[in-house]
Amino acid sequence: MSSPRVENLLAQMTTAEKVGQLTQYFYFQVDEVEEHLARGGVGSVLFVTDPAVLNRLQKQALEGSRHQIPLLVGFDVIHGLRTIFPVPIALAASWDTDLIERAQTVAAREARAVGIHWAFAPMVDIARDPRWGRMIEGAGEDPLLGGDVAAAQVRGLQGAQLGDSDRVVAGPKHFAGYGAALGGRDYDEADISDQEFYNVYLEPFRAAVDAGAGNIMAAYMDLNGVPATGNRWLLTDILREHLGFEGFVVSDANSARDLWTHHFARDLADAGVRAINAGLDLEMAIHDPAFGHLEAAVENGLVTIERIDESVRRLLTVKEQLGLFENVFVDEAVAAQVLADPAHREVAREAAARSAVLLRNEDGALPLDADALSKVAVIGHLADSPRDTLGPWVFDYDLDETVTILDGLRARFEGRAEVTYAVGAALPERTYESMFEEMGQGTSGPPRGLTEPIDAPAELDRAVAHASEADVAIVVLGERQDMIGEGASRASLELPGDQLRLLQEVVATGTPTVLVLMNGRPLDIVWATENVPAILDVWYPGTQGGAAVADLLLGDAVPAGKLPFTWPRSVGQVPIHHAVTRSHDPSKQWRRYWDEESTPLFPFGHGLSYATFEHSRIAVDRASVGRDESVTVSVDVTNTSSVDGVEVAQLYLHQRHGTSSRPMRQLKGYRRIAVAAGATERVTFEVGPAQRRYWSAATRDWVVDASTFDVYVGGSAAAELATEFTVTD
Ligand code: GLC
Repeated sequence: MSSPRVENLLAQMTTAEKVGQLTQYFYFQVDEVEEHLARGGVGSVLFVTDPAVLNRLQKQALEGSRHQIPLLVGFDVIHGLRTIFPVPIALAASWDTDLIERAQTVAAREARAVGIHWAFAPMVDIARDPRWGRMIEGAGEDPLLGGDVAAAQVRGLQGAQLGDSDRVVAGPKHFAGYGAALGGRDYDEADISDQEFYNVYLEPFRAAVDAGAGNIMAAYMDLNGVPATGNRWLLTDILREHLGFEGFVVSDANSARDLWTHHFARDLADAGVRAINAGLDLEMAIHDPAFGHLEAAVENGLVTIERIDESVRRLLTVKEQLGLFENVFVDEAVAAQVLADPAHREVAREAAARSAVLLRNEDGALPLDADALSKVAVIGHLADSPRDTLGPWVFDYDLDETVTILDGLRARFEGRAEVTYAVGAALPERTYESMFEEMGQGTSGPPRGLTEPIDAPAELDRAVAHASEADVAIVVLGERQDMIGEGASRASLELPGDQLRLLQEVVATGTPTVLVLMNGRPLDIVWATENVPAILDVWYPGTQGGAAVADLLLGDAVPAGKLPFTWPRSVGQVPIHHAVTRSHDPSKQWRRYWDEESTPLFPFGHGLSYATFEHSRIAVDRASVGRDESVTVSVDVTNTSSVDGVEVAQLYLHQRHGTSSRPMRQLKGYRRIAVAAGATERVTFEVGPAQRRYWSAATRDWVVDASTFDVYVGGSAAAELATEFTVTD
């Protein structure tokens, strides 16, 4: 139900003014946007982060609108605004929803302080194909983890309810199924079966809507042949009726006008009509919006004024909920203080430490013993590239305050050991220009130390010489931040450029070597897993990344991250994930290729610690329960080391028979638990109808079967500790 103010405004507004409220402009063509502003033709803007500019735009909006309607300002505050957190896939790897909520609370505070009211986050697209660059922006392959991360981000961004003065509207995206792009090619069509749609891709959106998200962003691509942005089944039947969403729906950039590009709409006017009639409320446009034809569409009876009013009502209501009619201006001095808050940097450092995943640690190669080191060789382009340390989807950052891995290590070894640095092998430019370069948003810069073009052979020799003279070589490899993210899909997962050769030459010196990865997708590191004893994945760790990485390498922080995706051996195995059905003789289950293992390099949920953990004494409270009853599964988690640590105990379920074939392992619970050295903690999991419910293609409906269930608990999807229980009619 909307307020008297909203209804009064609706009653006074012309159709042109109403359509203006349904248009959001990128603040790129500044003059064009300001012309529209002057005649009240803009409801929202994006790509402005300067509080002074935002104050000016709000003033223009109020003056340009007969009804004093303020602008709703949205932006891609994906993993921080000025304080940059680790990229979202990294935060997901922490499996720490409290941390994720705290990080997004900081991001919301900084965004609101400058006059941004709405974050185009969380990105909740399930991704099971690492060729797709936007895997980095989400929470990986699993609907349970993805849903929990989505809900935590919504809570952090919005607070308990919309309207808090230091929070923003959360805008889960991209609705829906964008991560299933054909061939992992960004923007390509997604053809998704109903059972995958309901059981996998829709789940994180359900969790986000249930957490109260105020906005949803429609996706670019064709979903089963119908563009998401013009898909009434998706935007109305599923989003409104099935999920009960009551907020407003925004298109992706130009995705409404692109209904014409899809050859779905006849022309731009038809695109606007079909988008709004499908359920789109607000068009995000760079220029020449499809909604620009809606006034004529109403006159021609193609769109009812009631449908227009429905969308305008949603937008005016959210502006009212945010208090924008009372005060829309920000205090620029206060904004500067909020952006500089040192407490925010501490959360970023903690987040970077908790997100890292220790993939390999043979013979306790890590943590390093600082006292035993007199010379440390740091090698790699990414080790000292501030822009790459932040990862993609960041705009209002401060490179001068960004702590690279080299910075972090130099600070820790100052006065104790000599730290040398060599790029070793410069990362190549992308073959094709990145989207952000096109948008003038800059791209990855060179390492700080690189001032002139590299003489590749000489630089490689220099790095090898440094390694030869050092007590340990820390090699930082991965992808440049513009090699992943939007418009950054790949046909290969190899380490770009000569990075593998660099690693091989460093290892060949015989100096103990640690591989540190900066990435947002699994990369081909098979050689490293056979030849490098210690591999730590730090993702793109953000503003305080280098400080956190130094903490981890030296043992002041203990890794506890777990992979939010399955790590393939080769791109030929893709798509690959943990929740596959039996579908064939299990003894042959994992030998499907003749030329490659069918098992992953690392399973979903994998991650080591400096502590070691054992799971034991698994038990269910009841061996048999009714269809609508739950069992409680209990397990001991023992820290068998002398180091305090944190384990993420994971519970996987397999239903042995039923209405559909069910995955051999499906994550259905996890507990992130601190266990002191030598101690044992007992954890419990509830496995009830909610965990056993799924949508079946046999009945085309949701079912909870009577069956026998295998339960596995451990530190990854490869858990072997098992028990079972039965559900009877
Ligand atoms: C981009 C992305 C979307 C982003 C929007 C605004 O193309 O698909 O995630 O929020 O445009 O930048």
